[in-house]
Amino acid sequence: MTQTLTPRRPKSNGSAIETLQSLLAGDLEAVERLLVARAASPVAMIPDMSGYIVGAGGKRLRPMVTLAAAHVAGGATPGTHALATAVEYIHTATLLHDDVVDDSDLRRGKQAAKHVWGNSGSILVGDFLFARAFTLMVETGSLEILDILSHASTVIAEGEVRQLAAQGRLDLPTEDYLAIIEAKTAALFEAAARAGALSGGSETLADPLAAYGKNLGLAFQIVDDALDYGGTTAVIGKSVGDDFREGKLTMPVIIARRRGSDEDKAFWDRAMHAETRKEGDLAHAIHLIRATGAAEATIAEARAYASLAQQALNTVPASPYRDVLDALADFTVSRVS
Ligand code: IPE
Ligand code: IPE
Ligand code: MG
Ligand code: MG
Repeated sequence: MTQTLTPRRPKSNGSAIETLQSLLAGDLEAVERLLVARAASPVAMIPDMSGYIVGAGGKRLRPMVTLAAAHVAGGATPGTHALATAVEYIHTATLLHDDVVDDSDLRRGKQAAKHVWGNSGSILVGDFLFARAFTLMVETGSLEILDILSHASTVIAEGEVRQLAAQGRLDLPTEDYLAIIEAKTAALFEAAARAGALSGGSETLADPLAAYGKNLGLAFQIVDDALDYGGTTAVIGKSVGDDFREGKLTMPVIIARRRGSDEDKAFWDRAMHAETRKEGDLAHAIHLIRATGAAEATIAEARAYASLAQQALNTVPASPYRDVLDALADFTVSRVS
């Protein structure tokens, strides 16, 4: 009986995120209930797969941004809960699609849904959740919110296509990398914050909170890209080296290649292509990223964007919820440093 799925509390990665979650506990519980309830469908694979990925945890960062932004802007309503659920559904849909596109094996510490239900199922249930997100947004009654999230969805898709087109391009300029991650990741954080502010009732706070969300999203993706080489499966719940295997140029590689010797460059140019990659190349890539200082430089970039996110909060009135947003920026960087 798929309808009997019970809401699960999000899995957390440590005390910092637990503290933040506890400040938003009531709102997050409402969102958890909606995440389960609104995935109901007579077609069993839909609630089954949704329950699988939603129940596997996830940090719930984007709904937390929406909820905290709404609170600093005036307060969270049932419409805010629908909005935060829509934001997490859009994120979940992109994950179901992303693991097919990236051919990833693990997600949230479990087998990727595509391994259980196949690529087609993962794409189609992703489509369902994406569509359901729009139903939830309509329920907020705000055309402006619908506009913000539909624009963000377009930009995310563009970012993913742009990244696909750049695959294997070893001379990818940093600006192009930043444009890709701004689109595929930061756009949703930005929209989550802007729409949250509007849902809380403030037009004035929409811009500063959107700037917060965008910079947080950039910091977050840079950290995620650092963790792809410097993290552990136990912490990230994903396989280490996915980006490497996919020939995806991310900040640690861009910096390590730029700083490397001719021999290092020749290594990157060979190893980033599946046809010429050899056993042991990932370990050497991780070594070069550390040895050239690219790991530290990448973290420093992430920290700079996290600081920009925090600076954007300067014009936001002080409140415990502003503190949550501020702490989320610290948490993002603390995952890797
Ligand atoms: C994963 O996002 C996708 C990226 C943008 C890197 P999260 O790391 O927020 O995923 P969950 O929701 O916590 O699993
Ligand atoms: C996640 O991107 C999907 C989107 C942001 C749309 P990645 O492919 O970089 O993230 P992970 O490492 O699989 O979570
Ligand atoms: Mg991807
Ligand atoms: Mg991926």
